[in-house]
Amino acid sequence: MNHSDLIKIALDMRSKAYCPYSGFAVGAALLCADGSVYTGCNIENSAFTPTVCAERTAFFKAVSDGKKDFVKIAVVGGKAEKEPENYCPPCGVCRQVMKEFCSADFEIIIAKNSDEYKLKTLSELLPESFDKREV
Ligand code: THU
Repeated sequence: MNHSDLIKIALDMRSKAYCPYSGFAVGAALLCADGSVYTGCNIENSAFTPTVCAERTAFFKAVSDGKKDFVKIAVVGGKAEKEPENYCPPCGVCRQVMKEFCSADFEIIIAKNSDEYKLKTLSELLPESFDKREV
């Protein structure tokens, strides 16, 4: 699965976003080591704090299905029902969730569309982070 194909899956997921409060639709596509792809969208809540990001939705779907080995994730976000105008880097909470399950070289594809994207590793986005070795 190349970067562009994973981005296209993430872009499609934006249509599933439940974002009546922010009007900001995010899609994510997570590639597992076994080749399977788990998708996610953001799911908001009137009480705000229960809101979950697209990236965590994808991770929690995958982990709850028994997946533990991950290769890369594509993330796209922007105003609902419009093409993304800017990059949507994962929030700090999602980076910490990635840290729980992924190695330093896990790839994060931050995309506007299937041609325009930035590639980052988890260690670039979350240096000197807390993880299970400290617990
Ligand atoms: N959001 C994500 O889904 N992923 C991110 O990485 C950043 C933010 C969502 C949360 C909320 O529903 C909306 O975008 C606006 O913050």
